Amino acid sequence: MQTKNIGLRNIEVADTKISAIDGVNGKLIYRGYDILDLVKKSTFEETACLLLNEDLPTQDVLSTFSDKLVAAREIPEGLEKTLRNIPKTANPMDVLQSTVSMMAVYDTQKIDDRDTNYNRAIDLISKIPIIVACWDRIRNDREIIQPSKKLNHAGNFLYMLTGKEPDVEAARIFDICLILHAEHSFNASTFAAREVASTRANMYAAVSAAVGALSGELHGGANFQVMKMLLEIGSVDKVEQWIKDKLAKSQKIMGMGHAVYKTFDPRAEVLRELSRRLAEKTGLPWFAITKRVEEVTEEEMKKIKSSDIFPNVDLYSASAYYMLGIPMDLNTPIFAISRVSGWTAHIIEEKFAEAAPKPMLYRPKAVYVGKYCGPSGCEYVSIEKRLAQI
Ligand SMILES: CC(C)(COP(=O)(O)OP(=O)(O)OC[C@H]1O[C@@H](n2cnc3c(N)ncnc32)[C@H](O)[C@@H]1OP(=O)(O)O)[C@@H](O)C(=O)NCCC(=O)NCCS
Repeated sequence: MQTKNIGLRNIEVADTKISAIDGVNGKLIYRGYDILDLVKKSTFEETACLLLNEDLPTQDVLSTFSDKLVAAREIPEGLEKTLRNIPKTANPMDVLQSTVSMMAVYDTQKIDDRDTNYNRAIDLISKIPIIVACWDRIRNDREIIQPSKKLNHAGNFLYMLTGKEPDVEAARIFDICLILHAEHSFNASTFAAREVASTRANMYAAVSAAVGALSGELHGGANFQVMKMLLEIGSVDKVEQWIKDKLAKSQKIMGMGHAVYKTFDPRAEVLRELSRRLAEKTGLPWFAITKRVEEVTEEEMKKIKSSDIFPNVDLYSASAYYMLGIPMDLNTPIFAISRVSGWTAHIIEEKFAEAAPKPMLYRPKAVYVGKYCGPSGCEYVSIEKRLAQI
């Protein structure tokens, strides 16, 4: 009998202490702390440290963590040379996935214990934004900007990307975006990372698999598609017809809907406000168009399917990044810049969980529905005698 392919929805595959999603009430919790509290009171550095440890850090732990992040702000020379040899038309997510896996060859430590992986995680969190910023400079024939030692994680990325120190508000808005994207339980890319880690492959292999999973448009790639949609629509008065046409062709509206949240995604609520603030600051129309997309999609989905649909994290992040002056094809790499903190926390949990039940090698079961010629199998026919079947 065929399986009903439900994409593993609601199947419990492992225990985690890292985060919890309440899809009914629209809550997201990192290590016990509500995301809405973290965006008000925390920073990306502190949040990443929280994810990689069991609780909020003391000042000493946070200072050591932040110092290590700053100290790791450089990439190996060989990696920079590789970036310079990649065709400039390459998709930034492909570039990121390849270079993350390449980082393994520059790691001379052959140890796979918890402490070494904790330091590897910090190194990856520090270097992924550097790779993204350097790639953008290289592909645009611009000089690479040397990292700042005084800017925070969010500010340094914007500085290395644009060559200008961001103003305080822009840096804080970007910092909040990074907090919001840092972790989201067993989403597709995190599951990919954990699945690879369960084989005892190294952290780079697991993170590069996660980057690959994130690149798809049903996952992290959606924020790029959202910006494409907004540019294509162009103005608020064109939204209604555009959405109606798409839905009439049974096409999905990017940035809307979620596999777990059946109410407002709490991250979308914060991002909506950030997008609104940036629109006010820049005078650009992208917030207004996005808001209309949200309204019309909700109205139309009620009419067509009698169901509710809500914006997800990608709907308002697209316009927020655009108004921060970030090239739209970097939207998904930025997701990775933040989510690497969650991925690495999960990889460490997968490899070193102390409490039972301990994780084990993932090995789901498939139902074979292919050719069957009886218990002894099909007879092998030599190539000369085979009849054309295709
Ligand atoms: C994320 C996503 C894959 C979840 O899909 P899902 O788990 O099937 O969601 P649901 O079960 O709630 O879908 C219910 C119905 O609404 C439809 N639907 C869901 N999201 C939709 C969207 N964005 N646009 C149009 N229709 C949508 C589904 O096709 C489904 O229709 P059906 O019953 O006729 O098959 C889906 O919402 C989607 O593709 N969204 C757009 C891509 C996106 O923004 N991804 C980022 C996610 S963070």
